[in-house]
Amino acid sequence: LDNGLALTPPMGWMAWQRFRCITDCEAYPDDCISEKLFMDMADRMAADGYLKAGYEYVMIDDCWASKERDSNNRLQPDPKRFPSGIKALADYIHARGLKFGIYGDFGTKTCAGYPGSLDYLELDAQTWAEWGVDYLKFDGCYVDQKIMPEGYAKMSKYLNDTGRPIVYSCSWPAYQEPLGIESNYTALSESCNLWRNWDDINDSWENVTSILSWFSKNQHRLAPFAGPGHWNDPDMLLIGNYGLSYDQSKAQMAIWSIMAAPLIMSVDLRHMETQFKHILQNKDVIRINQDPMGIQGKLILSKSQIDFWTKPILPKVNGKPSYAIGLLSNRIDGYPYRVNFTLGELNLMENIYVLTDVFEKEIKPKVVDSKDRIFARVRPSGVVLLKAVPNVVAVNQM
Ligand code: DGJ
Repeated sequence: LDNGLALTPPMGWMAWQRFRCITDCEAYPDDCISEKLFMDMADRMAADGYLKAGYEYVMIDDCWASKERDSNNRLQPDPKRFPSGIKALADYIHARGLKFGIYGDFGTKTCAGYPGSLDYLELDAQTWAEWGVDYLKFDGCYVDQKIMPEGYAKMSKYLNDTGRPIVYSCSWPAYQEPLGIESNYTALSESCNLWRNWDDINDSWENVTSILSWFSKNQHRLAPFAGPGHWNDPDMLLIGNYGLSYDQSKAQMAIWSIMAAPLIMSVDLRHMETQFKHILQNKDVIRINQDPMGIQGKLILSKSQIDFWTKPILPKVNGKPSYAIGLLSNRIDGYPYRVNFTLGELNLMENIYVLTDVFEKEIKPKVVDSKDRIFARVRPSGVVLLKAVPNVVAVNQM
């Protein structure tokens, strides 16, 4: 969507994956979907380095609304859990230099049964704009997928008419693709800044690999539509929660970055182990994700149960890009597997490259040509992330 927003993949925090629809604030005062939760997260994002690392949006998901619209048909927040109102929460978030995201649903109800926007598209767009919303996640429960392309486009127009810059995240492919219907990505990239293509992420490595397997099988259809202002969204980062090991967390971060995926954390930032925080805030990985060319990387080769993903990035030398290269292990045989490959096998033919390891800074850069055999040790369900820079610049920079 050409609204000047999301020129690189959006980065932020969203409640759903970690906090779901917990609404019992008496039993779970720290975890329930309430203004306190979002204020706490905004505080942590500003104070603990996330904002500085690029995570900008604090986003409410489902279960924030009151079950009824008000007497003017306007959406209103649950009065017990958001006693100060959404505008005040948006102000709180903005005061910390962050941006504010909200959730709605194109159907008659949200997935969790709160009021949907189907008959109130224009009114809801206006309400959200008045509240100071900077990002809308627009879900697609309780409505026929057939009317989504047109309906989501209408909403895009209503958001634009408000005059407030609002990043627009669409969910319609996530309701078509699992039915075997190939979504119209030309229409998506015209109406939306990003879109959820596929099933929800859950807190396990199996879930990450099944999402990756769908994205890589369909990459020829999806990747051409990623770029500044419009992105495929494989769903939230699980890093720092219960389901992923340290190596699996690095792997999700690396491959999401190669895929130019939105980096949307969903984790309790008040209780973060340092190692996970460092993964989420790793500057070099984030730079790969946020590369201004905005090219979505692809799975190029699989051998010895290692998947090789590559993404062209800056700097370019004599018109030739650099590359991020992710080696993702599907092995379970318990030791760091020593895989060998050549840059030629990954279609990096034209140049001599300087190869650096993005996570392991103490590993010395190597100068390699497309035929040199490169060896790397990849841990089970782990990743090795490399960067290949065409030689001329690299040598000058060192
Ligand atoms: C389905 C979406 O895909 C999830 O990310 C989340 O927003 C839930 N709905 C909320 O009900």
